[in-house]
Amino acid sequence: MELSGVDKVIDQYSASKASLLAILQDVQEAENYLPREAMERVAKRLTIPIAQVYQMATFFESFHLEPRGKHICTVCMGTACHVRGATRLVEQLERDLEVPSGGTTKDMQFTIEEVNCVGACALGPLVIIDGKYHGNMTSGSLQKVVKKVRKAEDKGGK
Ligand code: FES
Repeated sequence: MELSGVDKVIDQYSASKASLLAILQDVQEAENYLPREAMERVAKRLTIPIAQVYQMATFFESFHLEPRGKHICTVCMGTACHVRGATRLVEQLERDLEVPSGGTTKDMQFTIEEVNCVGACALGPLVIIDGKYHGNMTSGSLQKVVKKVRKAEDKGGK
């Protein structure tokens, strides 16, 4: 996202200080993380200290300050998913994507993340890929989903 894109988001909220959280959420949605330059722009336009923006960005776990891949693979490691084999799924992703959990592939296509219970235990083990919930996952079905995302990417992105 260019800084002009950040400006657009800010304008949508009329550069309102009260909308800081929503602005940061929208910027992250576009970028998958919060670039430093974007946060500086938000601080400037909202006429608030950069420390206030950082404070908000670091308070909420859902914000990421480091670049992440285009596709986020999130494995639920809550108890229900864990006992149904979530660890195997993480290992599968690590093998397929050749990156440790928490990391991002060199081509910036995939990031593997782990979260605690997301409240859909009946679906466990659960993997969320680009916001879409995939329940009752097995290593095989996970491989298929990842392959599908890769294929779509090879065809020119989703
Ligand atoms: S433990 Fe995974 S959704 Fe609850």
